[in-house]
Amino acid sequence: MEKSVNSVFVNNEEVHFEQGQTILSLLKKELGEDSIPTLCDVSNLKPFGSCRVCSVEVGLEEDGPTKVQASCHTPVMQGSHIYTHTEKLNRLRKNIVELVLTDYPKEKFAADNPKQNELKKVALQVGIDMSDVRYLPGANHLDRQIDESHPYMRADLSACINCYRCIRACDEVQGEFVLTMVGRGFENAVTMGMNDSFKESDCVSCGACSQACPTGAITDVFDSKTNDATEVTRTICTYCGVGCNLDVATKEDQIISITAPYDAEVNEGHTCLKGRYAFKFYDHPERLRSPLIRKDGQLTEASWDEAYDYIINKIKLIREDFGPNAIAGISSARCTNEENYLMQKFIRAVVGTNNIDCCARVCHSPTALGMQRAFGTGAATNSVIDIKYTDCMMVIGANPTVAHPVTGAKIKQAAMKGTTLIVIDPREIELAKYADHFLQLRPGTNVALLNMMLYYIVEEGLEDKNFIDNRTEGYDDFIKNIKKLDIDAMESITGVDRNKVRAAAIAYASAPNAMSFHGLGVTEHSQGTFTVQLIADLAMITGNIGR
Ligand code: SF4
Ligand code: SF4
Ligand code: FES
Repeated sequence: MEKSVNSVFVNNEEVHFEQGQTILSLLKKELGEDSIPTLCDVSNLKPFGSCRVCSVEVGLEEDGPTKVQASCHTPVMQGSHIYTHTEKLNRLRKNIVELVLTDYPKEKFAADNPKQNELKKVALQVGIDMSDVRYLPGANHLDRQIDESHPYMRADLSACINCYRCIRACDEVQGEFVLTMVGRGFENAVTMGMNDSFKESDCVSCGACSQACPTGAITDVFDSKTNDATEVTRTICTYCGVGCNLDVATKEDQIISITAPYDAEVNEGHTCLKGRYAFKFYDHPERLRSPLIRKDGQLTEASWDEAYDYIINKIKLIREDFGPNAIAGISSARCTNEENYLMQKFIRAVVGTNNIDCCARVCHSPTALGMQRAFGTGAATNSVIDIKYTDCMMVIGANPTVAHPVTGAKIKQAAMKGTTLIVIDPREIELAKYADHFLQLRPGTNVALLNMMLYYIVEEGLEDKNFIDNRTEGYDDFIKNIKKLDIDAMESITGVDRNKVRAAAIAYASAPNAMSFHGLGVTEHSQGTFTVQLIADLAMITGNIGR
């Protein structure tokens, strides 16, 4: 057979691959998601190559000599011949799974649902059942104690198969490093913190380990992976602006658990404690289930018809007596865009006033206005995925690991991998621990600090002159004012050593691609709009737009 560029042969059929693609990802694409059994592989974790269940045979010529290789961490080699289901491979996979099952609780295996328990699914896939296990019972780990100390997490390590998926999820996805493997050989075991109970460890209840575990050895109190949900509905989390996609599992119209889909670009199989576990409010006994009307000073339950009549009468009366401008409406960021649109339409078109506001204005209008003034649009110029590609992240007035945990975890991961991190915040937030530059300014002094950064960028000659000449206007006036700044005064206003600000400014301006993040610590100040404009100025003076 003639070989073309970026092509290989899978079971003697020619297929094309992408440079750097692993054999497993090629086979999943060509032969189907479940074509090759895997145990230690998870799509949002780095390939690990420990279980070898995914092994395939790879040779250099058709039906020639081959080598067995783990497909999950082996890159595809141009022109190679890959065989996926030979007799040798079937035997190897069976043997591996059989060995794993010698130390797995029999009763649990019988009860496990192969749709949710990946070990059972793989066992059935390779054609082995508990009754096929040939080895005599010897020492095992089946009497390990269950850890139920944690409010959300559970560990029954008698069902652990030492695949490291939980540990890798905690490290690579959440960046919390709570779980580790201790002991050698037969004593090898997953442990929490410094051999603590789950509760005493530093676990932040993100649930990444529970979602990653293929056997339910680590799970959560909702048994998210093994419960008997009858329906799963894809939705979007309403807690914060990250917009995690969630798979909501239901049974008899009740939510029984939530997991994070791996194919969601924004959260890639991860979400936080709130998105994953804080869902009971929807059915809380104290939740309002009918309108309340205050009668004789007491809030009293009313029917919807009664409530609508009451609202209509009151609005009519107030409008007749005082005019439509005596009425105002306020809506919420908790509502959908469509609901907010309808609310303003109702207030404007039906009531007849422009007195309509939304709670999001307080938090976000400084961003929208500041960016509108700087760029002509209030929309962000980067997306979260750019965290993977940026060389420098500046976080100002935001605490993402708490307020937007999934994005916060991504920033943390990038910082740990060497991306420069500048944190500007009066509080020593979690990200400050990972920061190369932590500027702990006095509250309310963002404008002064950003002006100092601009001053040092100009002083060091780090402006992007090409970008400034071609893409900005009013630069000469702007720079005159920056050069006139009294740095002594700025230093005493911010309380931050000028050398630290200078170093951070140089790091930001000299990074090939820098990205900035701001939050309510910027916008919920009287100077919020100006601060946003200064953040935009920093991006423009260094040409960090459109990269
Ligand atoms: S729940 Fe999250 S933080 Fe806790 S151990 Fe699991 S992965 Fe780590
Ligand atoms: S607890 Fe689960 S994910 Fe962690 S090593 Fe054991 S089987 Fe693998
Ligand atoms: S899935 Fe490839 S080695 Fe485990």
